[in-house]
Amino acid sequence: MILSRVITLGAIAATGAAFSQDYKADANEAFNELVPSNNQTAIDQLIHELREVSINDSRCQACLNRLEVGKKWAQENPGVIPVAWPQWCVRYKAGSPDSCTRNFARTTVERNAEGSNFVDMLTLIDPHGYDGQLYCQYLEEDSCPKPPTPNSSLSHLWPPKQPKHHVAPEPGNETFNVLHISDFHVELDYTVGAESNCSATMCCTPHSQGKGGGGYLYKGHWNSFYKDAHYENEFTYVKGAYYNVFQNSSISAPAPTFGHYHCDAPEILVNSSINSVVDYGKKHNLSFEFAMFTGDLIDHDEQAWMNFDKSLASEEAGFRDLKSRLGDMPVYSTLGNHDSYPYGEIAQEGHGFSNKYTWNNDLMAEMWKDYGWINETTSQFVRTHYTGFAVDTKVGLRIVSLNSNCYYRKNHYAFWNATDPDGFGMWSFLISELVDAESKGQRVWIMTHIPPIVDGLPLPSKIFYEIIERFSPYTIAGVFFGHTHLDQFNILYAGNNTKTIENVINHAWISQAVTPWFNNNPSWRWYEIDKETFSVMNAYNYYAKLNETFDNEGKEPEWLFEYSCRDGYGIDWPKTSPLNGTYWHLVSEKIRDSVEYRQIYENYATRFSPYVPDCSQNGKCLSDYCTLSSFQVDDYDNCVSQLHT
Ligand SMILES: *[C@@H]1O[C@H](CO)[C@@H](O)[C@H](O)[C@H]1NC(C)=O
Ligand SMILES: *[C@@H]1O[C@H](CO)[C@@H](O)[C@H](O)[C@H]1NC(C)=O
Ligand SMILES: *[C@@H]1O[C@H](CO)[C@@H](O)[C@H](O)[C@H]1NC(C)=O
Ligand SMILES: *[C@@H]1O[C@H](CO)[C@@H](O)[C@H](O)[C@H]1NC(C)=O
Ligand SMILES: *[C@@H]1O[C@H](CO)[C@@H](O)[C@H](O)[C@H]1NC(C)=O
Ligand SMILES: *[C@@H]1O[C@H](CO)[C@@H](O)[C@H](O)[C@H]1NC(C)=O
Ligand SMILES: *[C@@H]1O[C@H](CO)[C@@H](O)[C@H](O)[C@H]1NC(C)=O
Ligand SMILES: *[C@@H]1O[C@H](CO)[C@@H](O)[C@H](O)[C@H]1NC(C)=O
Ligand SMILES: *[C@@H]1O[C@H](CO)[C@@H](O)[C@H](O)[C@H]1NC(C)=O
Ligand SMILES: *[C@@H]1O[C@H](CO)[C@@H](O)[C@H](O)[C@H]1NC(C)=O
Ligand SMILES: *[C@@H]1O[C@H](CO)[C@@H](O)[C@H](O)[C@H]1NC(C)=O
Ligand SMILES: *[C@@H]1O[C@H](CO)[C@@H](O)[C@H](O)[C@H]1NC(C)=O
Repeated sequence: MILSRVITLGAIAATGAAFSQDYKADANEAFNELVPSNNQTAIDQLIHELREVSINDSRCQACLNRLEVGKKWAQENPGVIPVAWPQWCVRYKAGSPDSCTRNFARTTVERNAEGSNFVDMLTLIDPHGYDGQLYCQYLEEDSCPKPPTPNSSLSHLWPPKQPKHHVAPEPGNETFNVLHISDFHVELDYTVGAESNCSATMCCTPHSQGKGGGGYLYKGHWNSFYKDAHYENEFTYVKGAYYNVFQNSSISAPAPTFGHYHCDAPEILVNSSINSVVDYGKKHNLSFEFAMFTGDLIDHDEQAWMNFDKSLASEEAGFRDLKSRLGDMPVYSTLGNHDSYPYGEIAQEGHGFSNKYTWNNDLMAEMWKDYGWINETTSQFVRTHYTGFAVDTKVGLRIVSLNSNCYYRKNHYAFWNATDPDGFGMWSFLISELVDAESKGQRVWIMTHIPPIVDGLPLPSKIFYEIIERFSPYTIAGVFFGHTHLDQFNILYAGNNTKTIENVINHAWISQAVTPWFNNNPSWRWYEIDKETFSVMNAYNYYAKLNETFDNEGKEPEWLFEYSCRDGYGIDWPKTSPLNGTYWHLVSEKIRDSVEYRQIYENYATRFSPYVPDCSQNGKCLSDYCTLSSFQVDDYDNCVSQLHT
């Protein structure tokens, strides 16, 4: 059962911790539905069965056999699984002790393990068909080869494309501005003076483990160690007292105030990035009609250090920091793969498992409404249809925001009935919005977190492609992603993905990130948008050279103009034409054909980070063209496999 509650803006801004308890109680109750078994006979029996079906068959068949055994137990005695499976995994070395716990132990609000989701998945998976093959390919490390992608389609959900739908409307001569900011990944445990030269995934926290892995930037003269530095009244920087990190001789490269390349963003960096948006607006007399945030508020810390409280606090902090500084500017958001608990999961609304995720919808519905970003009707929609929502902006553009965990390779719920082209109902929602907009001559932007070729499942990527193809170029005026932390794009081609200029269908913008993790400078962008067609006329990118904040005595980062997409690649393109897929096709060909342009692309992708790869070195940057010119998983996989032949 989900408790009802009333929350005010004041409550969110001031006392996040207090109201969080309600959401935690909801999540706790949902997780407790799976009662762990203490029947030792049954536990031993399952361990024995898993052992038996794993020994004589191929790796693939053994994985499938275990799914079959698991399904039987999930249906008859599910509480045995999260106890027995991790023990089997550790005893027979099916993974490291950490991964055995993470993947198979029971989920609780204190422990970010996915075993409960695994049990849910087992109840409905088909071990003998596509589901099993898909699971054993993606969630058990290539145990089975990737199965052929089914030829499912949703084309019955739309009317035929008419001749007028093959033409994009011509832009007018006036523009407005839109902010695109993404991937904060705020690290609430970031600690000035903690080890930045660690061997774990996440450095700069008191629990960062191991030594080595990249403190080489440290030359012994850093001095930006201000533990209490913060922003007061939003925009006033208070540095506080110098903190002598060198008193701790066990640290080889102490974490500086504003962040490090091997660490997620301290909150002060998130605040600085949003302040820089506001400062730029003031300085250049620019206003933004609205902002898009394409997901990932929560950090990349090892799952052992994640729990429900930290996840919730990170979501609250990110949106609060945006609201506190952007004032009345609406922020349209999508949740990322990190913005869930446990990590990466979301269940379909049917089948009875969605109550594990409703706390997240409730939080977003209430927060976004209280912040004035969405109205009451949309808020109700967000609460009940958590795979996506749509808004009609004041300027007449429709924005559809989707939850890409529905097609994420690490979401267990995406692995049952996986031949169903729309198990989550997300695509039919998108299609209904597009059909409605098309009938009104209205244009649409689609925003979501994960670019399908990076971490998406093959069938949903094909369906997503099919939808964009149908509604381009007449209705879809923009597609926006985050997730990769890199400044990138993906082009869609028709005609069996033959990458010619005639075949360009559309493209997606992939935003850079504020978090410097991993090896990038923090960055954001804004778009110049045609008022009539909502086509993107230009994109302007800003960044801070993070390494220059390491020994500048704790001064704030300086946020600089990086480049504009229209000028960045030396393409001769009419001033009156939008930066559409054809433009990006020309860019991608330059990148394909020369080391010089691959280097330019990599410089932009990482924002001139000290860690930018040197593309003149053998083997470097070669897959860039596949990334930029693919949209479907199978196309990308084919493209990359051809590089190696
Ligand atoms: C314990 O599990 C075994 C094997 O599944 C079963 O036969 C037995 O009835 C269970 N005992 C109890 C007390 O549930
Ligand atoms: C595995 O193979 C061995 C040797 O062929 C056989 O004795 C054993 O019964 C087999 N186990 C299973 C579970 O099939
Ligand atoms: C999908 O259709 C293509 C072309 O008709 C065919 O070659 C392929 O085998 C089909 N794939 C599956 C999984 O049925
Ligand atoms: C913009 O276009 C409108 C109508 O299309 C025209 O009346 C106006 O003069 C144009 N303005 C400029 C600055 O070109
Ligand atoms: C980082 O740690 C490794 C392993 O202890 C060490 O060799 C290296 O010198 C350290 N780097 C710096 C900059 O201290
Ligand atoms: C970031 O901004 C928020 C909202 O103004 C504020 O509550 C928080 O203390 C700030 N944190 C830092 C480290 O500046
Ligand atoms: C020094 O750093 C280590 C590693 O993070 C930590 O365990 C220890 O408590 C620190 N010592 C002091 C005096 O801060
Ligand atoms: C709320 O927003 C939705 C989506 O933009 C819109 O369709 C609806 O008319 C709005 N409702 C009100 C009462 O303003
Ligand atoms: C599985 O997918 C099919 C469509 O492919 C659908 O008709 C059916 O209801 C789905 N079953 C479940 C259990 O979701
Ligand atoms: C796609 O490729 C197949 C086989 O290579 C070919 O028969 C078909 O005509 C191609 N379709 C298009 C639209 O180019
Ligand atoms: C992009 O714009 C150019 C110039 O207006 C146009 O010729 C081309 O067809 C457009 N491309 C797409 C994919 O819409
Ligand atoms: C920061 O990194 C950039 C890119 O490698 C480099 O050009 C610059 O000199 C560095 N600045 C400092 C202060 O190290």
